[in-house]
Formats: sequence, C-alpha cells, structure tokens
Amino acid sequence: MMRRLFAKTDGAVLCAAALCGCHLDMWQQRRYEPLEKGAFFGAGESASRTLVEGTVPYQMAKLDTHYYQGRVNGELVDALPAQVPLTAELVQRGHDRFGVYCTPCHGLTGHGDGMVVQRGFPQPTSYMDQRLLEAPLGYFVDVMSNGFGRMYGYASRVPIEDRWAIAVYVRTIQLSQNATPDLLPADVLEQARQPRPGQEAADAPAEGATHEQ
Ligand code: HEC
Repeated sequence: MMRRLFAKTDGAVLCAAALCGCHLDMWQQRRYEPLEKGAFFGAGESASRTLVEGTVPYQMAKLDTHYYQGRVNGELVDALPAQVPLTAELVQRGHDRFGVYCTPCHGLTGHGDGMVVQRGFPQPTSYMDQRLLEAPLGYFVDVMSNGFGRMYGYASRVPIEDRWAIAVYVRTIQLSQNATPDLLPADVLEQARQPRPGQEAADAPAEGATHEQ
C-alpha cells in the first residue's frame, strides 16, 4: 500500500520535472539583450530597431495638457494646440463627427433638441446659452473627454484630434447664430450689404416683415 503511494508520488514529481525542463529550454534560448549589438538588421547594427523619429513615451505625450486636456497651467484655454491647425478640413471633419456623435441629443443646430431628447432623455443646455457662448474651446474638449453631469464622456469613442475638430465645429454653430457683422472681412461685409436682385436694400426689410430667429 505504502509502496504504491510512493510510486504515484514519484510519477508526479517526474512529470513536474519534465515540464520544468520544457520551460527552461524556452527560457534559455539564444536572444539579444535590449539595445545589444546584433547582426540581425545588418552587421554592426543594434539588435533592436531604432525608434521612429518623433517618438515620445506614452506618458510624456500625455504631458501635453493643451492637446490632451484643453488646459494650460491648469486653466481651460480658448486656443487650438499647435498640432491642430485651423483649416476648412478641420471644420468639415468636426461637422461630420458632430453629426455622428452629438446630434442625437444636441440636435443639428445645438439647441439640445435631438431625437434622443425628443424621446425623453434630459435636455442639455443650448450651445446658444450665454455661458456656453463664452466657454473656451478647451471646455468643449473637456466635456467630451470626461463627460458632464448626465452626459457620459466620449474619450473611448472619439479620438482627441476629432474632439478638437468637434469643438471647433460647435464654435461654428454658435457663430452661425450669433455673429455680428464686424466679424466679417470688409469686402465680404460690403458684398453682403449689396441689395440682392429684386430687393430695395439689404438692410431694409419689407413693410410688416418680422425678424424671426
Ligand atoms: C445621449 C445624449 C448626448 C449625447 C450623444 C451628447 N451629449 Fe452633450 N450633453 C447631454 C446632456 C443630457 C447634457 C447636460 C448634462 C447635465 O446637465 O447633467 C449635455 C451637456 C453638454 C455640454 C454642456 C455642458 C454645460 O456646461 O452645460 C456640452 C458642451 C456638450 N454636452 C457637448 C457634447 C458634444 C460635443 C457631444 C458629441 C461628442 C455630446 N455632447 C454628445 C447629452 C448628450
């Protein structure tokens, strides 16, 4: 009885030893140490590939708080970061992404009357609210990144470059409904003042006409 028990135990020990052996073979295979000289990529080269130009450690990239958080020295800023130039493509991209991710609740014109809201989701503040008209660009990036109240964050779905594009587009929506003529370049303003065909003068609405929003 005792002998049979020992025999079984020996078997188990042998098995374990054999498995360890396998592990050791893999463990002790030939390999290069990090940054060691090696012939794999050519004689006299490093065995590791050199980094692509401009590579920065992930954590260091996140230190660019302007780009990643819309903040400089802890304060939300009303300026685009250097890597996001203001171009027509940026606005177009923002328009496109806003349509996908934001209109369901905020509506096409930013008044907070999207389809989801019409079906009972809490209504967000209109982008035309004075507080949001004055909010810096970084604020919109911050709301998209971290969420706000009952609105969840979009960091996992909208990459940071698109969050900037959307923020710029939100500003465009705001301007489209609140711009003053002095924001126009002089020649465009002049053109806008020209009476259109069939109209007496651009600034003189017809008798009885009401100005609607
Ligand atoms: C599922 C609905 C929904 C979607 C989609 C949505 N939001 Fe919101 N958003 C809300 C609600 C609701 C609030 C108000 C939350 C509250 O006050 O608790 C809000 C608030 C905001 C605010 C205002 C914060 C303030 O200070 O009042 C901004 C800016 C904003 N959202 C931007 C966006 C942008 C940009 C997108 C697209 C990336 C987006 N939201 C997508 C529902 C949504």
